[in-house]
Amino acid sequence: MPVTELTHPLAKDLLTSLRDRDTESPRFREYAHRLGLLLVAEALSDIDLVDVKVQTPLEGGDGHELGRPVVAVAVLRAGLGLLDALLTLVPDAAIGFAGLQRDEETAEPMEYYSKFPPLAGARVLVLEPMLATGGSLSWAITMTKERGATDITAVTVVSAPQGLEVIERHHPEVRVVTATIDDDLDHNFYIRPGLGDMGDRLFGT
Ligand code: URA
Repeated sequence: MPVTELTHPLAKDLLTSLRDRDTESPRFREYAHRLGLLLVAEALSDIDLVDVKVQTPLEGGDGHELGRPVVAVAVLRAGLGLLDALLTLVPDAAIGFAGLQRDEETAEPMEYYSKFPPLAGARVLVLEPMLATGGSLSWAITMTKERGATDITAVTVVSAPQGLEVIERHHPEVRVVTATIDDDLDHNFYIRPGLGDMGDRLFGT
């Protein structure tokens, strides 16, 4: 399973601001958006292009367009924190939602809402900022595959080694783009050192 960890200095700076317990929701959302731009750019760095002709103000020339549609699947609710970044870079992207809730006792995902645009032939980015046990992301990827997705990249902010192992085991062909691979999970399945509960920090709950 190809895993890309961002090395850009801006990504490290933004990640540190996200980790900081004193960063409150408005700033947290802004930093998540900016880091999302870097993550999405990396996740689409190998998308195929088609050659097109372009007319500049001076003359005709050669250009390129994205060769296939892009679909984002936001795993609710933390995935919403990366959605604006995706739409900033690819405004034509269609959006799906995978509504998975973590059972607080077992950490197993429970589905409560899902809706997907057509996925066959698309570059599908599954937005799941916190890859902890891997349960939610693995489930969301399975749902996209069941609906015809074959070209899938998972976009995460923080990944735990345990979560990466689960994705490797169940979805070895899926590419993962992450801002960092952290140390471990705590006994509540939170990533250490992590950044806490991404949904709570995004939305002030
Ligand atoms: N989800 C989060 O928001 N944070 C974690 O550390 C793990 C799962």
